[in-house]
Amino acid sequence: MLIDEAGLTPSGITKGIILAGGAGSRLYPATRAACKQLLPVYDKPLVYYPLSTLMLMGIRDILIISTPADLTRFRDLFGDGHQLGLRFTYAEQPKPEGIAQALIIGEQFIDCNPVALILGDNIFHGTFDFHAIASGFQKGAVIFGCSVPDPGRFGVLGFDRNGNVLSIEEKPDQPKSSYAVTGLYLYDGQAVDIAKALKPSNRNELEITDVNRTYLDRGQLSVVRFEHGMVWLDTGTHESMLEAGNFIATIEKRQGRKIACIEEIAYRMRYIERSQFEKLVSEMTNNSYKTYLDGVLREADDRSS
Ligand code: TTP
Repeated sequence: MLIDEAGLTPSGITKGIILAGGAGSRLYPATRAACKQLLPVYDKPLVYYPLSTLMLMGIRDILIISTPADLTRFRDLFGDGHQLGLRFTYAEQPKPEGIAQALIIGEQFIDCNPVALILGDNIFHGTFDFHAIASGFQKGAVIFGCSVPDPGRFGVLGFDRNGNVLSIEEKPDQPKSSYAVTGLYLYDGQAVDIAKALKPSNRNELEITDVNRTYLDRGQLSVVRFEHGMVWLDTGTHESMLEAGNFIATIEKRQGRKIACIEEIAYRMRYIERSQFEKLVSEMTNNSYKTYLDGVLREADDRSS
């Protein structure tokens, strides 16, 4: 087995896109001065959560797509990513013309390689082994379904009796199952051409559901269903933002561990050396986040002594 510098099996996917634009109209006026993905969910910006999912997949080469106004703020937040052992590049989506447009905007970045696309407002938390799924990825597309009480708000999966996917419908009036398609998609090199061939939908967007349907029609779509032990939170409304914040706060307090702490993940995944981790921590002002990271360092000392 090949081992990369992080000591892990190299990922079958090495590139990731975070789509962090959109109008955020349901969150008005919270989104007047900054986009949704920069608003806090409990103790950190929302975008930290999808970023941490990509990092846990073993992905270090990341394109952030956002509105022209917000892109500068993402640059301020992450820079070129070297401090986390990552490589960030940035691209504009001038108007929210659909999630599938990310694949067209990202064409050069993708460069015919497999890619993970994640929405900047999706939070995944739980026992699922994202690294295994990314490192095992070979061809076609993989999407992730999660049972929700209100599937009609999402892309909805229809299954046959054996659990094979038969259909994906965007925001149907009569959902064929309770399984919504979550905002994480793994695609092989066909995705850009598929997106380029799409026609805008009735709401004038390039729909990611149409990309997924094309893979389905080609017999190349796999669906992973999240079962117990996985939580998927979407943060489109004031209520869901509050719920997500309360959820993260509760888990972090009870477990004594932070969720989506990108510095900790970079260190544990060995994207950065200990000296760089120490530098990151020492540059922080005194606050609870720094105290937590000091604890991570002490824990590492205890393990090595
Ligand atoms: P949505 O929740 O569909 O849209 P939104 O975030 O703009 O919110 P609202 O409906 O309240 O106006 O988008 C899901 C995610 O995808 C979110 O992170 C924004 C992002 N997105 C883009 O970046 N560009 C797009 O063209 C679209 C449609 C979404």
